[in-house]
Amino acid sequence: MPPYNCSVPVLTDIQRAAQVLRSGGLVAFPTETVYGLGADADNPHAIEAIFRVKGRPTTHPLIVHLGSGDEVKDWAVSVPDEAHLLIQTYWPGPLTLILRRAQRVQRAVTGGQDTVGLRVPDHKVALAMLREFRSGVAAPSANRFGRVSPTCADHVRQDLGADVDFILDGGPCAVGLESTIVDFSTGEPVILRPGGVTREALQETLRQALPVRPSGSVRVPGQMESHYAPRAAVVLCSPGEGPARAAALRAEGKRAILLSTDDTAPGRLYASLRRADGEGAEVIVVPLPEEFGLGLAVADRLRKAAAPRP
Ligand code: TXA
Ligand code: MG
Repeated sequence: MPPYNCSVPVLTDIQRAAQVLRSGGLVAFPTETVYGLGADADNPHAIEAIFRVKGRPTTHPLIVHLGSGDEVKDWAVSVPDEAHLLIQTYWPGPLTLILRRAQRVQRAVTGGQDTVGLRVPDHKVALAMLREFRSGVAAPSANRFGRVSPTCADHVRQDLGADVDFILDGGPCAVGLESTIVDFSTGEPVILRPGGVTREALQETLRQALPVRPSGSVRVPGQMESHYAPRAAVVLCSPGEGPARAAALRAEGKRAILLSTDDTAPGRLYASLRRADGEGAEVIVVPLPEEFGLGLAVADRLRKAAAPRP
């Protein structure tokens, strides 16, 4: 007879992640877009920890991640027909909907607003975690505020290290750019952030034009807020101009690294910016893509990465 009962239950990573969430901890988890820094959306202390670790102003609301589209009714008071259509067409997927929030949604999640951002991610590991947890997980991208979003677990380890209670490693993110955000809270839908679902696809589904409007608080024209920024300065140029711009910067004695149009493919953009930082770039010269399809989201992130730093 064996001396011990060997059937000690071993928690899977998914069960462990759900347990950390239940106890108010922070879990970094993979999605198809970027890694998220998740906490129980119903626990105000856990939400507070997200803002503290990220260094993010509390007025910037968080997206609540759900395991299924059926859960929307628990988090939003009304879902317009067009929003339903997008849910049916694109969830699970890289699309976040801004809807009028239900009573249960914590003020800390919404930054005090009457609306809530909801999405069902298209990633096996994320869905398994959400279904095991059986409730909403509030999560921003798992990077320090203003910096480049993480597209693999190593990026999260490098950025946040011991500040996260558990990191679920689901490999590299397939899309590599954040979700598209569509706001349904003010009547006609508008895009607040271009992302993984293209504007063209959404317009075709809704059979209407979707304007793109910057999200967040009031912006001073021409002074775009710096975001998605590597350590090095970012200089944008047209694709043909790149080599000359990089050469001119090097002639001034600057360590300039030129990215190729391959480096700025949606799935590679963030890793390329991090790599250039790692290679000691002072300036990263980046060709801007044409602004249609996923190029709209790439150009949006690059403009914010190139915006004046605070
Ligand atoms: O792909 C994504 O969306 C990733 C993954 C982790 O899901 N998440 C992400 O979260 O990019 P974050 O926090 O880095 O960006 C979310 C954006 C912020 O700009 C925030 O202001 C906006 O969504 N947002 C969230 N809730 C909102 C609301 N109620 N009204 C307006 N904007 C909102
Ligand atoms: Mg982010």
